[in-house]
Amino acid sequence: MKEKIRHLLKKRNAIMLAHNYQPPEIQDIADLCGDSLELSIKAARTDAETILFCGVHFMAETASVLSPDKTVLLPREDAGCPMADMITPEALKTRLDELSPMPVVTYVNSTAAVKALSTICCTSANAVDVVNSLDAREVLMTPDRNLARYTAAHTDKKIHIWEGYCLIHDILTPEDVNKVRQAHPDAVFVAHPECRPEVLLLADKVLSTSGMIRFAGESESSTFIVGTEVGLLYPLKKANPDKEFYPASLAMECPDMKKISLDDIVRSLEFMEGQVKVPEEIQRPALNAVQRMIDLSESKMVDH
Ligand code: 13P
Ligand code: SF4
Repeated sequence: MKEKIRHLLKKRNAIMLAHNYQPPEIQDIADLCGDSLELSIKAARTDAETILFCGVHFMAETASVLSPDKTVLLPREDAGCPMADMITPEALKTRLDELSPMPVVTYVNSTAAVKALSTICCTSANAVDVVNSLDAREVLMTPDRNLARYTAAHTDKKIHIWEGYCLIHDILTPEDVNKVRQAHPDAVFVAHPECRPEVLLLADKVLSTSGMIRFAGESESSTFIVGTEVGLLYPLKKANPDKEFYPASLAMECPDMKKISLDDIVRSLEFMEGQVKVPEEIQRPALNAVQRMIDLSESKMVDH
């Protein structure tokens, strides 16, 4: 299967990108695994004609926004993100009408149509830097309330919040974390900023998924409690075989991130199935917001 996929990737002059939550067999074949920021930057820079995206729909859309002349394939078109669907362009326009004029910072976990109405995008790796870069005292952050609250705690700006959330990260409670901590009292607790504020207060470090992989490698600790989607345990262990990783909660599994199979990848590459193309009238303004974020991250060499 692996050889077949690598052969098809070559035939299609395609690059295979996989998010850190994807199943192990997919991560093992991909040209690049990473967090949303790393995958966005790679999608913007690649020379390949086709981008095979193993992740969810908004990620493939972002690749299409950044590379409108390339073919972007999402092997399962029904792999979505419930949080991205918690905001629509119409609802955002209504909210903006109610507020005084201010920049809109939109998490990449959103549709291209919502990005198109935004000033700049952010990811879990750069949200605070993005907000601090803006020449405004007040900012509206969409759609993740938890990322917005986390950012609000790390900036002097007034943050207006959109009430969206990730169903997977939002279920983690302080009680869950304390239970695992009792079993592993020396462990370092790393949490994703999509978790609730009361969970983030318990965290030793708040990081993006790739930030967690790097931190675990650099840390002197050998045991970690991982407060993010359970798919991250695989690349964490792969990069740090001598260290131990425990999920903060086994319930933190994103069904959308597990939809793509190796068969889906073969079918997608063989028949060029699952093409994701953002229409030009949305692509152009969405590109402004995404590119602004990438330029800022690259210029600041943001540590993600
Ligand atoms: P990052 O990998 O950018 O931290 O994002 C997490 C996520 O929820 C993606 O869907
Ligand atoms: Fe969306 Fe959460 Fe799944 Fe990421 S883990 S794709 S934010 S539902």
